[in-house]
Amino acid sequence: MNQAIDLAPMSLRVEAGLPVRVSPLQAGQTLHEHLPALQQLTQAHLESAGGMLFSGFAGIDVGGFQAFAGSFGHPLLSYEFGSTPRSKVGAGGVYTSTEFPAHRAIPLHNEQAYTNEWPMRIWFYCAQAAEQGGETPIADSREVYRRIDPAIRQRFAEKKLLYVRNYGNGLDLPWQQVFNTEERQQVERYCRERGIQYEWLGDDELRTQQRCQGVAQHPRTGDWVWFNQAHLFHLSSLDAETQEILIDSVGLEGVPRNVYYGDGTPIEASLLDEVRGVLDACAIRFPWQTGDILMLDNMLTAHARDPFKGPRKVVVAMAEGRSGDLL
Ligand SMILES: [Fe+2]
Repeated sequence: MNQAIDLAPMSLRVEAGLPVRVSPLQAGQTLHEHLPALQQLTQAHLESAGGMLFSGFAGIDVGGFQAFAGSFGHPLLSYEFGSTPRSKVGAGGVYTSTEFPAHRAIPLHNEQAYTNEWPMRIWFYCAQAAEQGGETPIADSREVYRRIDPAIRQRFAEKKLLYVRNYGNGLDLPWQQVFNTEERQQVERYCRERGIQYEWLGDDELRTQQRCQGVAQHPRTGDWVWFNQAHLFHLSSLDAETQEILIDSVGLEGVPRNVYYGDGTPIEASLLDEVRGVLDACAIRFPWQTGDILMLDNMLTAHARDPFKGPRKVVVAMAEGRSGDLL
Protein backbone atom coordinates (compact mmCIF):
# COMPACT_ATOMS: atom_id res chain seq x y z
CA MET A 1 0.00 0.00 0.00
CA ASN A 2 3.01 2.33 -0.34
CA GLN A 3 1.49 3.95 -3.36
CA ALA A 4 -1.63 4.83 -1.41
CA ILE A 5 0.35 6.32 1.43
CA ASP A 6 2.29 8.48 -1.02
CA LEU A 7 -0.96 9.72 -2.49
CA ALA A 8 -2.39 10.75 0.82
CA PRO A 9 0.44 11.70 3.14
CA MET A 10 -0.54 12.21 6.76
CA SER A 11 -4.20 12.78 6.03
CA LEU A 12 -5.83 9.44 5.17
CA ARG A 13 -5.53 5.98 6.66
CA VAL A 14 -5.56 3.25 4.04
CA GLU A 15 -5.95 -0.37 5.11
CA ALA A 16 -5.53 -3.13 2.57
CA GLY A 17 -8.06 -5.92 2.12
CA LEU A 18 -11.48 -6.43 0.64
CA PRO A 19 -12.73 -3.83 0.95
CA VAL A 20 -9.77 -1.43 1.07
CA ARG A 21 -10.72 0.80 3.99
CA VAL A 22 -10.03 4.53 3.64
CA SER A 23 -10.68 6.92 6.51
CA PRO A 24 -9.52 10.40 7.53
CA LEU A 25 -6.91 10.65 10.27
CA GLN A 26 -8.64 13.65 11.79
CA ALA A 27 -12.30 13.84 12.77
CA GLY A 28 -14.57 16.27 10.97
CA GLN A 29 -12.95 15.92 7.56
CA THR A 30 -15.19 15.58 4.55
CA LEU A 31 -15.08 13.44 1.41
CA HIS A 32 -15.14 16.60 -0.60
CA GLU A 33 -11.87 17.97 0.72
CA HIS A 34 -10.11 14.68 -0.02
CA LEU A 35 -11.78 14.05 -3.36
CA PRO A 36 -8.68 14.09 -5.61
CA ALA A 37 -6.80 11.72 -3.26
CA LEU A 38 -9.83 9.43 -2.95
CA GLN A 39 -10.18 9.26 -6.71
CA GLN A 40 -6.50 8.39 -7.10
CA LEU A 41 -6.72 5.73 -4.41
CA THR A 42 -9.73 4.25 -6.17
CA GLN A 43 -7.91 4.30 -9.48
CA ALA A 44 -4.98 2.51 -7.87
CA HIS A 45 -6.87 -0.14 -5.90
CA LEU A 46 -10.46 -0.74 -6.99
CA GLU A 47 -9.71 -3.10 -9.85
CA SER A 48 -7.17 -5.09 -7.87
CA ALA A 49 -8.92 -5.29 -4.49
CA GLY A 50 -12.47 -5.24 -5.89
CA GLY A 51 -13.98 -2.78 -3.40
CA MET A 52 -13.32 0.34 -1.31
CA LEU A 53 -14.94 1.42 1.95
CA PHE A 54 -14.86 5.13 2.73
CA SER A 55 -15.51 5.42 6.44
CA GLY A 56 -15.46 8.15 9.06
CA PHE A 57 -15.92 11.17 6.78
CA ALA A 58 -18.11 13.95 8.10
CA GLY A 59 -21.27 15.56 6.82
CA ILE A 60 -22.38 13.11 4.13
CA ASP A 61 -26.01 13.09 3.03
CA VAL A 62 -27.82 11.60 0.03
CA GLY A 63 -26.96 14.64 -2.11
CA GLY A 64 -23.29 14.41 -1.14
CA PHE A 65 -23.33 10.68 -1.88
CA GLN A 66 -24.82 11.33 -5.31
CA ALA A 67 -22.13 13.93 -6.06
CA PHE A 68 -19.38 11.60 -4.83
CA ALA A 69 -20.58 8.59 -6.86
CA GLY A 70 -20.99 10.84 -9.89
CA SER A 71 -17.42 12.14 -9.62
CA PHE A 72 -15.71 9.05 -11.04
CA GLY A 73 -16.19 9.98 -14.68
CA HIS A 74 -19.52 8.30 -15.49
CA PRO A 75 -23.08 9.57 -15.08
CA LEU A 76 -25.22 7.56 -12.68
CA LEU A 77 -27.53 4.99 -14.28
CA SER A 78 -31.24 4.45 -13.88
CA TYR A 79 -32.38 1.07 -12.59
CA GLU A 80 -34.06 -0.51 -15.60
CA PHE A 81 -35.09 -4.13 -16.03
CA GLY A 82 -34.66 -4.57 -12.30
CA SER A 83 -35.44 -7.75 -10.44
CA THR A 84 -36.47 -6.22 -7.14
CA PRO A 85 -38.48 -3.23 -5.92
CA ARG A 86 -36.51 -0.02 -5.46
CA SER A 87 -37.57 3.61 -5.18
CA LYS A 88 -35.79 6.70 -6.35
CA VAL A 89 -34.37 8.73 -3.49
CA GLY A 90 -34.52 12.46 -4.17
CA ALA A 91 -31.45 12.99 -6.29
CA GLY A 92 -31.23 11.37 -9.76
CA GLY A 93 -29.50 8.02 -10.00
CA VAL A 94 -29.87 7.20 -6.29
CA TYR A 95 -32.20 4.39 -5.25
CA THR A 96 -33.22 2.64 -2.09
CA SER A 97 -31.45 -0.65 -1.74
CA THR A 98 -33.84 -3.52 -2.35
CA GLU A 99 -37.16 -3.17 -0.53
CA PHE A 100 -37.33 -6.64 0.84
CA PRO A 101 -38.62 -7.81 4.24
CA ALA A 102 -36.08 -7.03 6.96
CA HIS A 103 -36.05 -10.55 8.36
CA ARG A 104 -34.94 -12.08 5.06
CA ALA A 105 -31.40 -12.29 3.70
CA ILE A 106 -30.56 -11.45 0.10
CA PRO A 107 -27.91 -13.87 -1.18
CA LEU A 108 -24.65 -12.75 -2.76
CA HIS A 109 -25.00 -11.56 -6.34
CA ASN A 110 -23.46 -9.21 -8.90
CA GLU A 111 -25.91 -6.48 -9.85
CA GLN A 112 -27.88 -7.29 -13.01
CA ALA A 113 -25.77 -10.34 -13.83
CA TYR A 114 -29.08 -11.84 -15.06
CA THR A 115 -28.94 -9.58 -18.12
CA ASN A 116 -26.25 -8.84 -20.68
CA GLU A 117 -26.03 -5.19 -19.70
CA TRP A 118 -24.82 -4.33 -16.24
CA PRO A 119 -23.16 -1.54 -14.26
CA MET A 120 -19.39 -1.81 -13.77
CA ARG A 121 -19.60 0.36 -10.66
CA ILE A 122 -21.96 0.22 -7.70
CA TRP A 123 -21.95 2.37 -4.56
CA PHE A 124 -23.82 1.90 -1.30
CA TYR A 125 -24.29 4.71 1.19
CA CYS A 126 -25.31 3.81 4.73
CA ALA A 127 -27.50 6.73 5.81
CA GLN A 128 -28.59 4.81 8.88
CA ALA A 129 -27.01 1.63 10.18
CA ALA A 130 -29.44 -0.93 11.58
CA GLU A 131 -29.51 -1.54 15.33
CA GLN A 132 -28.83 -5.19 14.69
CA GLY A 133 -27.60 -6.96 11.54
CA GLY A 134 -28.16 -5.41 8.14
CA GLU A 135 -24.59 -5.85 6.90
CA THR A 136 -23.87 -5.80 3.18
CA PRO A 137 -21.68 -8.91 2.87
CA ILE A 138 -19.40 -8.97 -0.17
CA ALA A 139 -17.40 -11.65 -1.98
CA ASP A 140 -14.56 -11.76 -4.45
CA SER A 141 -16.15 -13.07 -7.67
CA ARG A 142 -12.72 -14.22 -8.91
CA GLU A 143 -12.38 -16.36 -5.81
CA VAL A 144 -15.91 -17.71 -6.29
CA TYR A 145 -14.99 -18.63 -9.87
CA ARG A 146 -11.83 -20.41 -8.71
CA ARG A 147 -13.63 -22.37 -6.01
CA ILE A 148 -16.55 -23.58 -8.14
CA ASP A 149 -16.05 -27.12 -9.41
CA PRO A 150 -14.35 -26.79 -12.83
CA ALA A 151 -16.94 -29.14 -14.36
CA ILE A 152 -19.77 -26.79 -13.26
CA ARG A 153 -17.82 -23.77 -14.44
CA GLN A 154 -17.33 -25.32 -17.83
CA ARG A 155 -20.99 -26.25 -18.12
CA PHE A 156 -22.09 -22.69 -17.28
CA ALA A 157 -19.52 -21.21 -19.66
CA GLU A 158 -20.50 -23.44 -22.56
CA LYS A 159 -24.24 -23.76 -22.17
CA LYS A 160 -24.85 -20.28 -20.77
CA LEU A 161 -28.19 -19.48 -19.12
CA LEU A 162 -31.77 -18.75 -20.10
CA TYR A 163 -33.64 -16.51 -17.67
CA VAL A 164 -37.44 -16.66 -17.91
CA ARG A 165 -39.59 -14.05 -16.21
CA ASN A 166 -43.36 -13.59 -16.01
CA TYR A 167 -44.87 -10.22 -15.14
CA GLY A 168 -48.40 -9.04 -14.51
CA ASN A 169 -49.94 -12.09 -12.85
CA GLY A 170 -49.68 -10.45 -9.46
CA LEU A 171 -46.89 -12.74 -8.26
CA ASP A 172 -43.92 -10.52 -9.07
CA LEU A 173 -43.31 -6.91 -10.06
CA PRO A 174 -45.68 -5.55 -12.75
CA TRP A 175 -43.96 -4.98 -16.11
CA GLN A 176 -44.80 -1.27 -15.90
CA GLN A 177 -42.55 -0.97 -12.86
CA VAL A 178 -39.74 -3.12 -14.19
CA PHE A 179 -39.56 -1.30 -17.53
CA ASN A 180 -40.49 2.06 -16.07
CA THR A 181 -43.16 2.72 -18.70
CA GLU A 182 -46.88 2.19 -19.41
CA GLU A 183 -46.23 1.73 -23.14
CA ARG A 184 -46.00 -1.79 -24.52
CA GLN A 185 -44.08 -0.51 -27.55
CA GLN A 186 -41.34 0.86 -25.32
CA VAL A 187 -41.03 -2.52 -23.63
CA GLU A 188 -40.81 -4.21 -27.02
CA ARG A 189 -38.12 -1.81 -28.25
CA TYR A 190 -36.13 -2.27 -25.04
CA CYS A 191 -36.29 -6.05 -25.44
CA ARG A 192 -35.45 -6.08 -29.15
CA GLU A 193 -32.40 -3.89 -28.61
CA ARG A 194 -31.09 -6.31 -26.02
CA GLY A 195 -31.94 -9.62 -27.59
CA ILE A 196 -34.67 -10.36 -25.02
CA GLN A 197 -37.53 -12.47 -26.38
CA TYR A 198 -40.94 -11.21 -25.26
CA GLU A 199 -44.46 -12.51 -25.42
CA TRP A 200 -47.68 -10.79 -24.29
CA LEU A 201 -50.02 -13.22 -22.61
CA GLY A 202 -53.59 -13.17 -21.36
CA ASP A 203 -54.70 -10.10 -19.53
CA ASP A 204 -51.74 -7.70 -19.53
CA GLU A 205 -49.18 -10.34 -18.73
CA LEU A 206 -45.69 -10.42 -20.19
CA ARG A 207 -43.14 -13.21 -20.45
CA THR A 208 -39.51 -12.52 -21.28
CA GLN A 209 -36.68 -14.94 -22.02
CA GLN A 210 -33.06 -13.92 -22.21
CA ARG A 211 -29.91 -15.87 -22.88
CA CYS A 212 -27.01 -14.61 -20.78
CA GLN A 213 -23.53 -15.45 -19.66
CA GLY A 214 -22.77 -17.89 -16.85
CA VAL A 215 -19.22 -16.62 -16.38
CA ALA A 216 -17.57 -13.45 -17.66
CA GLN A 217 -14.17 -11.90 -18.19
CA HIS A 218 -13.47 -8.47 -16.79
CA PRO A 219 -12.83 -6.11 -19.71
CA ARG A 220 -9.81 -4.40 -18.16
CA THR A 221 -8.23 -6.80 -15.70
CA GLY A 222 -8.89 -9.92 -17.80
CA ASP A 223 -10.00 -11.81 -14.67
CA TRP A 224 -12.62 -14.53 -15.05
CA VAL A 225 -15.53 -14.16 -12.66
CA TRP A 226 -18.58 -16.18 -11.71
CA PHE A 227 -21.22 -13.88 -13.13
CA ASN A 228 -24.84 -14.97 -13.09
CA GLN A 229 -27.87 -15.07 -10.82
CA ALA A 230 -28.93 -18.65 -11.43
CA HIS A 231 -28.97 -19.35 -7.69
CA LEU A 232 -31.45 -16.48 -7.21
CA PHE A 233 -33.71 -17.04 -10.22
CA HIS A 234 -33.94 -20.82 -10.07
CA LEU A 235 -37.09 -22.20 -8.53
CA SER A 236 -34.92 -23.94 -5.94
CA SER A 237 -34.24 -20.55 -4.33
CA LEU A 238 -37.78 -20.84 -2.89
CA ASP A 239 -38.81 -23.25 -0.15
CA ALA A 240 -40.53 -26.47 -1.23
CA GLU A 241 -44.00 -25.34 -0.17
CA THR A 242 -43.80 -22.06 -2.11
CA GLN A 243 -42.55 -23.92 -5.19
CA GLU A 244 -45.52 -26.27 -5.00
CA ILE A 245 -48.06 -23.47 -4.54
CA LEU A 246 -46.61 -21.53 -7.48
CA ILE A 247 -46.59 -24.49 -9.83
CA ASP A 248 -50.13 -25.43 -8.80
CA SER A 249 -51.45 -21.95 -9.47
CA VAL A 250 -49.63 -20.85 -12.65
CA GLY A 251 -47.76 -23.92 -13.94
CA LEU A 252 -44.01 -24.27 -14.24
CA GLU A 253 -43.82 -21.99 -17.28
CA GLY A 254 -45.80 -19.26 -15.50
CA VAL A 255 -43.71 -18.92 -12.34
CA PRO A 256 -42.49 -15.34 -11.83
CA ARG A 257 -38.86 -16.20 -12.47
CA ASN A 258 -36.83 -19.22 -13.31
CA VAL A 259 -33.61 -20.07 -15.10
CA TYR A 260 -32.49 -22.90 -17.36
CA TYR A 261 -29.33 -23.74 -19.22
CA GLY A 262 -29.12 -21.73 -22.41
CA ASP A 263 -30.43 -24.69 -24.43
CA GLY A 264 -33.59 -24.77 -22.31
CA THR A 265 -32.68 -27.87 -20.30
CA PRO A 266 -33.19 -27.78 -16.52
CA ILE A 267 -30.41 -26.85 -14.11
CA GLU A 268 -29.94 -29.38 -11.34
CA ALA A 269 -31.02 -28.01 -7.93
CA SER A 270 -28.15 -29.89 -6.26
CA LEU A 271 -25.64 -28.11 -8.49
CA LEU A 272 -27.03 -24.75 -7.40
CA ASP A 273 -26.78 -25.84 -3.77
CA GLU A 274 -23.09 -26.37 -4.39
CA VAL A 275 -22.84 -22.87 -5.88
CA ARG A 276 -24.65 -21.41 -2.86
CA GLY A 277 -22.18 -23.21 -0.61
CA VAL A 278 -19.20 -21.63 -2.38
CA LEU A 279 -20.80 -18.19 -2.20
CA ASP A 280 -21.45 -18.58 1.53
CA ALA A 281 -17.85 -19.67 2.09
CA CYS A 282 -16.55 -16.58 0.28
CA ALA A 283 -18.71 -14.02 2.14
CA ILE A 284 -16.88 -11.16 3.85
CA ARG A 285 -18.76 -9.19 6.50
CA PHE A 286 -18.01 -5.83 8.05
CA PRO A 287 -20.31 -3.73 10.24
CA TRP A 288 -21.81 -0.61 8.69
CA GLN A 289 -21.15 2.71 10.41
CA THR A 290 -23.68 5.40 9.58
CA GLY A 291 -22.07 7.61 6.92
CA ASP A 292 -20.03 4.83 5.28
CA ILE A 293 -19.80 4.55 1.50
CA LEU A 294 -18.91 1.22 -0.13
CA MET A 295 -17.77 1.30 -3.76
CA LEU A 296 -17.52 -1.98 -5.66
CA ASP A 297 -16.38 -3.10 -9.06
CA ASN A 298 -19.60 -4.98 -9.84
CA MET A 299 -17.86 -7.68 -11.87
CA LEU A 300 -15.09 -8.36 -9.39
CA THR A 301 -17.17 -8.22 -6.23
CA ALA A 302 -20.61 -9.56 -5.37
CA HIS A 303 -22.83 -8.14 -2.62
CA ALA A 304 -25.66 -9.35 -0.39
CA ARG A 305 -27.83 -8.15 2.48
CA ASP A 306 -28.15 -9.65 5.91
CA PRO A 307 -31.42 -9.59 7.86
CA PHE A 308 -31.77 -6.73 10.31
CA LYS A 309 -33.78 -5.26 13.16
CA GLY A 310 -34.81 -1.66 13.62
CA PRO A 311 -34.67 1.10 11.03
CA ARG A 312 -31.98 0.86 8.35
CA LYS A 313 -31.35 3.08 5.35
CA VAL A 314 -28.84 2.09 2.71
CA VAL A 315 -29.13 3.72 -0.70
CA VAL A 316 -27.45 2.68 -3.92
CA ALA A 317 -26.09 4.22 -7.11
CA MET A 318 -24.68 2.59 -10.23
CA ALA A 319 -22.60 3.75 -13.19
CA GLU A 320 -20.70 2.71 -16.30
CA GLY A 321 -23.06 0.39 -18.12
CA ARG A 322 -21.35 -2.44 -19.96
CA SER A 323 -22.88 -4.71 -22.55
CA GLY A 324 -21.95 -8.34 -22.69
CA ASP A 325 -22.35 -10.41 -25.83
CA LEU A 326 -25.82 -10.73 -27.26
CA LEU A 327 -26.20 -14.50 -27.12
FE1 LIG B 1 -27.98 -5.94 -5.47
